[in-house]
Amino acid sequence: MKGAVLNQIPGQLEIEEISIDNPTGDEILIQTANAGLCHSDLHFMEGHWQTRLPAVMGHEAAGIVEAVGENVQYVKPGDRVITCLSIFCGSCNFCLGGRMSLCQNFSATARPKGAAPRVTNKDGDSLAQFARLGAFAEQMLVHQNAVVSIREEMPLDKAALIGCGVTTGMGAVFRTARIEPGSTVCVIGAGGVGLSAVQAARIAGAGRLIVVDITADKLAKATEVGATDVVNGAETDAVEAVKELSGGGVDYAFEAIGLKKTVEQAWGMLAVGGTATVIGMMPFGETVEIPGYEIFMQEKTLQGSMMGSNQFRTDMPRFVDMYLDGRLMLDEMVSQHLPLEKINDGYAAMQRGELARTVVDFG
Ligand SMILES: NC(=O)c1ccc[n+]([C@@H]2O[C@H](COP(=O)([O-])OP(=O)(O)OC[C@H]3O[C@@H](n4cnc5c(N)ncnc54)[C@H](O)[C@@H]3O)[C@@H](O)[C@H]2O)c1
Ligand SMILES: [Zn+2]
Ligand SMILES: [Zn+2]
Repeated sequence: MKGAVLNQIPGQLEIEEISIDNPTGDEILIQTANAGLCHSDLHFMEGHWQTRLPAVMGHEAAGIVEAVGENVQYVKPGDRVITCLSIFCGSCNFCLGGRMSLCQNFSATARPKGAAPRVTNKDGDSLAQFARLGAFAEQMLVHQNAVVSIREEMPLDKAALIGCGVTTGMGAVFRTARIEPGSTVCVIGAGGVGLSAVQAARIAGAGRLIVVDITADKLAKATEVGATDVVNGAETDAVEAVKELSGGGVDYAFEAIGLKKTVEQAWGMLAVGGTATVIGMMPFGETVEIPGYEIFMQEKTLQGSMMGSNQFRTDMPRFVDMYLDGRLMLDEMVSQHLPLEKINDGYAAMQRGELARTVVDFG
C-alpha cells in the first residue's frame, strides 16, 4: 500500500510503497477513507519540532475497520471509525480521573519492545507512525483505544476533520474553557482548528464573537460559520481592535496559530477576569511573556488545551450528531479534496495561509 513518509526534518512528504502487519491483541486494521491536513504535521516538516524518523505522517482520519485482533470487542469489520491521537490506557490516574487526553502511559497501547514493527518500508525497515497513528496511508494499524465508532450516515471526509481539528477547536471551548452563554469571545487564527473553536462558541451561545486572521478569505469563512466581527491583524493592531469591539476586552480568547506574538495578543485582549486558552503549537522551546501584575490584580488566566481536553469516545459522536442535525458546518470547512500523490500541494497552500481544510481521498 501507499503512504506519505517524512524521511528528514526539515523535509517534504514522499509517497512510498509500505507494508502493514496484521492486527493482534488490542489492535485494529483500518482502511483509511479520508485524512485531513492539520498544521501540526507541517510544524515537523518545517523543522520547528522533532519526531522519530522515518515516519508515516498524518493524524486526522476516518475509515472503515478491516480486521481486528483477538482482544477487540469494541468494533468489528465494516464499522466506521474516527481515529484520535489521544490514545487512552484506561487505567492511569488521568484516565480514571476523566482527563484521558493527558494519558502519558504510551507503552500500554504500543506493541511490546522487540515485537515486529506495525509498519515497514519496502526494505523491511521499521517506520514510525506519527502521533501513533500514521494516517497518511491507505491503511492504519492502531490500538483499539485510538478509535471511536460512529453513525453510518456520517460522510467520512467530514468525519476525518473531527479526528483532530474539530475536536481540538470545539473541545477548547466546551471542555477546556467552558465558556458561558453571552460571554465575549475572540479566536485568533481561522484555520481548521480556529474555525472549529468559532463554531463551538456560536453553538455555546457566545455574545460578541470576534475572529482575527491575516487573510480576507479566512475572515470571510469565519463570518460564514458564526463570527459576529472580524479583524485583519495584518492591517490593524489586533489587541486594540478587539478591545474596542468588545468594550474593553473579551472574557475568553483562543489562540489557534502557535506564535509567541499571537499568544501574547490573546492575553493582551482579555477583560479583567478573562481567560486565554492556547491551542496553537508554538515552536519547541519558545517562551511567552506576560505582565506579572495582571495575573493576580486582574485575575487573568493563561491555560493550554491539548486536543481540546477531549474525552473523544463521548465527544466525537456528539460532533457527528451536530453535523448531521445541521449545527456544525463541516461542508463549509472542506476546501478541497486531493489524492495522496498531491499531498505536498495541500501543505504548500497551508503555508500560504490558504484554505480551511484539505482532505486526502484514499481509494
Ligand atoms: N493543541 C492541540 O492539541 C492542537 C491540535 C491540532 C492543531 N494544533 C495547532 O493549532 C494551530 C492551528 O492549526 P490549523 O490546522 O488550524 O492551522 P492553519 O494553518 O489551517 O490555520 C492557521 C491560521 O492562522 C492564520 N495566521 C497566521 N499568522 C497569523 C497572525 N500573525 N495573526 C492572525 N492570524 C494568523 C493563518 O492565516 C491561518 O488561517 C497549529 O499550530 C496546530 O499545530 C494544536
Ligand atoms: Zn492535528
Ligand atoms: Zn491512561
